[in-house]
Amino acid sequence: MRTARTVAHANIALSKYWGKADAANNLPAVSSLSLTLDGLRTTTTVSFDASLDSDQVILNGAAIGGRPLERVIDLLDHVRGKAGIREKARVESENNFPTAAGLASSSSGFAALSFAAVQAAGLNLTRRQISAIARRSSASAARSLWGGYVALHARSEYAEPIAPAEHLPLIMLVVVTAQGAKKTSSTEGMKHTQDTSPYYSAWVEACAPQMFEEIRRAILERDIERVGLAAEHSAMAMHASMLAACPPLRYFAPATLAVLDRVLEIRASGLLAFATMDAGPNVKVITSPEHVDRVENALRELPMASVVIRCSAGPDAQALEVN
Ligand code: DP6
Repeated sequence: MRTARTVAHANIALSKYWGKADAANNLPAVSSLSLTLDGLRTTTTVSFDASLDSDQVILNGAAIGGRPLERVIDLLDHVRGKAGIREKARVESENNFPTAAGLASSSSGFAALSFAAVQAAGLNLTRRQISAIARRSSASAARSLWGGYVALHARSEYAEPIAPAEHLPLIMLVVVTAQGAKKTSSTEGMKHTQDTSPYYSAWVEACAPQMFEEIRRAILERDIERVGLAAEHSAMAMHASMLAACPPLRYFAPATLAVLDRVLEIRASGLLAFATMDAGPNVKVITSPEHVDRVENALRELPMASVVIRCSAGPDAQALEVN
């Protein structure tokens, strides 16, 4: 029996990935750029064990089934194929944050799982190769192999680091407006947008490439205001493509709009505060270390923003134990 335990941190895209160039191989249609967050992490243990008849997967203390289990087994099969082993695995995974509420749990989850499965299978792979394995399961997970600012280019197999965490000390306040699992998964939502939204081509051809480039440059030039403005634009353009799908795909809840309004008020008061959102109702607010206390206090005045998780740039995914 071989066991490996790893930790990976969730990432939130500043420049969003939405849409696939190749659904069978899960290659993204647009380039994306994220920040890995220290506050949201998944710890995963994988043990390949000849005494098991089937793969067993425990997430936050409970066995999972259905589609989430199939996605894990698919990844394990891929790793077993590469390593030439047949043993089934026991997987135990813990998130320190609400799972599947648009808090990017699949990014840290599949990054930690890929890393642990590769180590437990005895494979000697590069971080890029592990990123490619994570990408097959969830493209955003490819970015969580690295800390700091990370890009996944359109049609790319693996992500690559753009700048380390200390290059630009940006803070993300994760405002949790809902803790339940989301209704439409990112994978389903992307497919529906691609199939039915007349705005999807504008997103892929015009919006996403231009916003990616603006955010990449603004990060390299250490300009939080430009990063924030372009990140907000990227998130809203992505959601606009979903809203124009038929039937519309809407992740905004009343609490989401209240937080978005508050972010505009905070900004009008002269502080750095910019909103981004993923495939769920929660809002993440981008700000600077100098402004974060005042921004967080202003957000917490809202009754629906009682849970605010303060995050800075997080580290690379790491192996904690292999034996
Ligand atoms: C809105 O990586 O969850 O968070 O590749 O189908 O698993 P799949 O999708 P996933 O999509 C993330 C979408 C997003 C934006 C982003 O993280 O870039």
